[in-house]
Amino acid sequence: MNESYSDKYAIYEDVFDPMKYDRKARKTRKPKAAHTPKKPRQAVVEEIADVQGLEGGFNTTYHPGRFETGWLLESLRPFYDRAMITDVLARIKGGKEANVYRCEAHPALDVKLVAAKVYRPRMFRNLRNDKMYREGRQVLKENGKAAKANDHRLMRALNKKTDFGTQAAHTSWLMYEFTSLQTLYKAGAAVPEPLSAAANAILMGYCGDEDGAAPALSEITLERDEAQALFAEVLRNIDIMLQHGIVHGDLSAYNILYWDGRITLIDFPQVVNSHTNSRARSIFERDVERVCEYFAGQGVDCDAHTIQRKLWRRYNARSAAETAADLSRLLEQPEE
Ligand SMILES: Nc1ncnc2c1ncn2[C@@H]1O[C@H](COP(=O)(O)OP(=O)(O)OP(=O)(O)O)[C@@H](O)[C@H]1O
Ligand SMILES: [Mg+2]
Repeated sequence: MNESYSDKYAIYEDVFDPMKYDRKARKTRKPKAAHTPKKPRQAVVEEIADVQGLEGGFNTTYHPGRFETGWLLESLRPFYDRAMITDVLARIKGGKEANVYRCEAHPALDVKLVAAKVYRPRMFRNLRNDKMYREGRQVLKENGKAAKANDHRLMRALNKKTDFGTQAAHTSWLMYEFTSLQTLYKAGAAVPEPLSAAANAILMGYCGDEDGAAPALSEITLERDEAQALFAEVLRNIDIMLQHGIVHGDLSAYNILYWDGRITLIDFPQVVNSHTNSRARSIFERDVERVCEYFAGQGVDCDAHTIQRKLWRRYNARSAAETAADLSRLLEQPEE
């Protein structure tokens, strides 16, 4: 990835800026510093739209918008070159932080379709406040390994938010999604199979068929019995996550897909480490709360508070406050 990556695609954000449609997010946006483009706008547009366009054999059935072309094809090209995909068929969804595309899998894979999540450029500049999630996390490099704390060049770039630093933070963010999927998939969790990662995109198993992607739980209503069974399945997954020191961080009915009676948990870039992030427990509790909210609406009798406490205790030492509370309760008990 070259150094002017984020600048090059800044123009894309100007056109597809979700802030334009998201009033709440817009309110919290910091005022922008005046920006003088290094290149005339038209030159950048030409570069993005045409230069990296459909050259070199990577022709796609899906016709990306003019400003989407360069970003999309450059991001997905590694998967094409690695013989993992042969075509981009459709955009499934443009989310706040990424677009997800349905792709045709290379015949070498044993599935027909795969999902590619392409992260929006510059997401750090104006979107999610990721600081809370980054606490207690190392910086992951493109190979999925943690950067060394004595890598002064990288640490300086991250602190100074140079282009190189911004790209490194961006890659680290998506590598957390990819490596979490790897860990959880291996552990038997209901997550998409992680297939490949590149600097700006990940490739994973696809939920759905050629006509459409799986809906999220938030979009459907369940029969009570099925809701009960799926709730148990979500708890099984939360349990696996905690067992591996992982808290999802954005778990809700919006990030659980439903297909053929089964659920799949998605959207992991903001995972936090349950042992090293000081806010892990409250982030975990929020996840459980949101899941319970949905399932309560589907007729499941669930008490978020009890579940939070029981699950957390299985894998985490009791807090000093809890021990103190128990002790004082014990002392208050009248002697026999
Ligand atoms: N593996 C998959 N198979 C099918 N559809 C998927 C897959 N992964 C993601 N999607 C679809 O793409 C959407 C966006 O994915 P994801 O939630 O990971 O990204 P996001 O940018 O964080 O989105 P949002 O801001 O909407 O939460 C999902 O809501 C889902 O509809
Ligand atoms: Mg999502």
